[in-house]
Amino acid sequence: MAFLSFGKRLRAKQRKGGVLIRYARGIAVTITVVNQFRHLNLLRTLIHLSSHGRSSLSTLFSDHHHRKYHQVGVVNRSFSSTKCSASDPDQLKNAREDIKELLNTKFCHPILVRLGWHDAGTYNKNIKEWPQRGGANGSLRFEIELKHAANAGLVNALKLIEHIKEKYSGITYADLFQLASATAIEEAGGPKIPMKYGRVDVSSPNECPEEGRLPDAGPPSPANHLREVFYRMGLDDKDIVALSGAHTLGRSRPERSGWGKSETKYTKDGPGAPGGQSWTPEWLKFDNSYFKEIKEKRDEDLLVLPTDAALFEDSSFKVYAEKYAVDQDAFFKDYAESHAKLSNLGAKFNPPEISVLFGTGGGSIGERICWNDLVILENVVQ
Ligand code: HEM
Repeated sequence: MAFLSFGKRLRAKQRKGGVLIRYARGIAVTITVVNQFRHLNLLRTLIHLSSHGRSSLSTLFSDHHHRKYHQVGVVNRSFSSTKCSASDPDQLKNAREDIKELLNTKFCHPILVRLGWHDAGTYNKNIKEWPQRGGANGSLRFEIELKHAANAGLVNALKLIEHIKEKYSGITYADLFQLASATAIEEAGGPKIPMKYGRVDVSSPNECPEEGRLPDAGPPSPANHLREVFYRMGLDDKDIVALSGAHTLGRSRPERSGWGKSETKYTKDGPGAPGGQSWTPEWLKFDNSYFKEIKEKRDEDLLVLPTDAALFEDSSFKVYAEKYAVDQDAFFKDYAESHAKLSNLGAKFNPPEISVLFGTGGGSIGERICWNDLVILENVVQ
């Protein structure tokens, strides 16, 4: 307690001293420079210590600690769920490099994006309590949720990142899923996403959301259905259209979702496991071609789900879809904002007031954040 109140006093002192740091775009800031800020460095140490301290406390007080859960992706390995606090910043940075390596060798960008989306997309803004409200809390690692029909095939995503989770025990699943997804978007040529980390994991399969919170691809009234599901998450029409643009990546496989052809001229040779039907010819490249293709519907080898088609049929959605089809910069800007929102849905951050942000170069939308280095920023809006 004394330690925490010292932390609070330190933060108050920092605010008073104007040490809240905002980095201007394009200014190269390295850890060395960050280290010059004595208080920030101390604060960083405090974050490590406090998150570990909380871990130990939860170990002492949580009866979950003594239970063993079967985890998909860590098959036949006992798992005790003690690591529930914020992820370790240094480990996040290293894990990001390992994810890039994985992407370069396995071409698994699409399924990692889908993994992050399906963990976060269960959020229900009408439920206040965590974790009942769902969202980005790592619950998708449990078999019971992976078996939901909407998650068919995502066990493969868990298997792909399993070794990274094992290597970095200081990273929560909730953070790892979102880190993998944002890194995949960026590595596929998409925008830099202003991510923050420190999500707490749920600790038992009992805390998984019930089935049926994610959208269907072919409901009777696609636009209404999309609004029902995404409004429940607290998202709006712009978010719906921008986020649907993630289908610029990847393929649908009939043996998983029931949608798409088993193979097309764009997918028969991979890369990665061949097969499925993509929305775009270059389905490992993140650009605005999805909007061009679903508008024209001129190629039978490309997929247009009923919910994709709705983006040009509904008058409100159409405004955004038309814009994104001709203006890739506008799409990237809106996508980055919506993706960041999605990645935070329902998440509980620990510690709540301090977040870790980093990226891979270039600028970010909204507040200017220096990418490429680990930056600790106070008071990031959750
Ligand atoms: C708008 C409602 C949405 C519906 C109805 C929908 C539906 C689907 C379906 C049916 C698949 C094929 C899955 C398979 O057979 O393996 C799929 C794949 C995919 N979805 Fe969505 N999706 C939606 C929104 C999103 C969002 C918001 C994102 C990300 C921000 C996203 C990212 C992806 C990606 C990247 C894939 C390709 C996965 C792969 O190649 O393994 N989707 N989606």
